[in-house]
Amino acid sequence: MPTIDHPRLHTATAWRDAARALLAAGTPPEEVLWSFDAPAQTDLFAAPTSRPAPAAGVTVPKSFVALADNVCWHADPERFARLYAFLWRLRESPGLMQDRGDRDLARLREMEKNVRRCAHKMKAFVRFRDLAAPGPRRAFAAWFEPTHHTVEPTAPFFTRRFADMDWAIVTPDVTARFEAGQLCFGPGQDRPDLPEDGAEALWTTYFRNIFNPARVKVSAMTSEMPRKYWKNMPETRAIPELLATAERRAREMAEAAPSLPPLRAGRILERLHADRGSAAMSFDDLRRRAEEENREEQPGYGRIVLGEGPPDARLMVVGEQPGDVEDREGRPFVGPAGQMFDRVAAEAGLDRQAAYVTNAVKRFKFRMRGKRRLHEAPNRGDVDHARWWIAREIELVEPKLILAMGGTAAETLTGQRAGLLKRRGTVEETEFGPVLLTVHPSYLLRLPDPDRRARETELFRQDLEKAATLVA
Ligand code: URA
Repeated sequence: MPTIDHPRLHTATAWRDAARALLAAGTPPEEVLWSFDAPAQTDLFAAPTSRPAPAAGVTVPKSFVALADNVCWHADPERFARLYAFLWRLRESPGLMQDRGDRDLARLREMEKNVRRCAHKMKAFVRFRDLAAPGPRRAFAAWFEPTHHTVEPTAPFFTRRFADMDWAIVTPDVTARFEAGQLCFGPGQDRPDLPEDGAEALWTTYFRNIFNPARVKVSAMTSEMPRKYWKNMPETRAIPELLATAERRAREMAEAAPSLPPLRAGRILERLHADRGSAAMSFDDLRRRAEEENREEQPGYGRIVLGEGPPDARLMVVGEQPGDVEDREGRPFVGPAGQMFDRVAAEAGLDRQAAYVTNAVKRFKFRMRGKRRLHEAPNRGDVDHARWWIAREIELVEPKLILAMGGTAAETLTGQRAGLLKRRGTVEETEFGPVLLTVHPSYLLRLPDPDRRARETELFRQDLEKAATLVA
């Protein structure tokens, strides 16, 4: 029976080569043993010895390759066998990738989600310490304990973000090192003694500043920032004190803000006491919460309109805020801008039904002119306030790619609104995952010159086509 050993590095490529060769040889899943953490393996970083030669001429759907590329980094020892068993079935039933009721596929999708969530946590929670090394480049190191094998797939993110310094991310499994612009990997290590540095104070100050006592939700906070990561994050040392004083500070804030309508001030305290349970939010929780908030009218604002689309969509499309029609229908992108989007998306081969379509800001903001409600652009406060909602939607859907349409979506997801026309068509790595930027369809509708509108619409079509291709 062939035994396929996997190297700890380039695991996904190694699995793919082995699976193709086995498939080409007609080897059924029950005749293969897959190993990764085999105790007998002495050099986990060596090239594997018992690997069949990669086979040419075996084709598999791109969507499966993308799935396997993620699942291979899962910690489940069964992952390679599960993938190969599914691939074996896929040969006979190419439509299986679309079968939402298939339990094997559902399990693999779940594993893919776990890996992506773990990679996201790693990007958000790695904290580098300054090693104060002599030399032209500053040197940093961080200790991290990922749940899955996400060091290798997330390392390129760190090389881009911290290109001008040397750094190491040490984990029990693998160590990633970036020195003089070169990335390399070595075996895992025990937790090193890392110096405390000025960055600790900076992180703590930053955290104190963004910590809003009136909006504290302990369950949401621990779901976003699980306690197991706290020990490596200096800012979390401030949490007990911030929580202990949150109620008093929320009351002081409410009292110090006479311009807040009494209803809102009351709600702040109400929220502080509300028991939100300890589980992560589900779509139903989110809908319930929107319904709850929609019971209170807010002058100048419409109701909360949540996104719609498959809950496991690979693509999330994010606009600005609902318009008048969307507010009345309670659905995103169904008015003129939505129709424009639908038309260009169809031309670009982007299937709206397969995407989760939503907005950065959840309420239509307007001013009255006679009986008409005229669109008002959301301000910074509206955007900041709404980020909680979109973050929950992203957490639930875990899209492979987010298409941000317009300045408000760009600001919400990348933190920067400026320069959209230069940045459009590019993918930016963000705390929410990869975000492809483009203009808003309303921008096209507002362009008075027909030639310019045609040119801009073509560029918009190209951006949508790119989004469709990236998630295919
Ligand atoms: N504009 C948006 O940004 N979103 C909508 O849902 C409708 C118009």
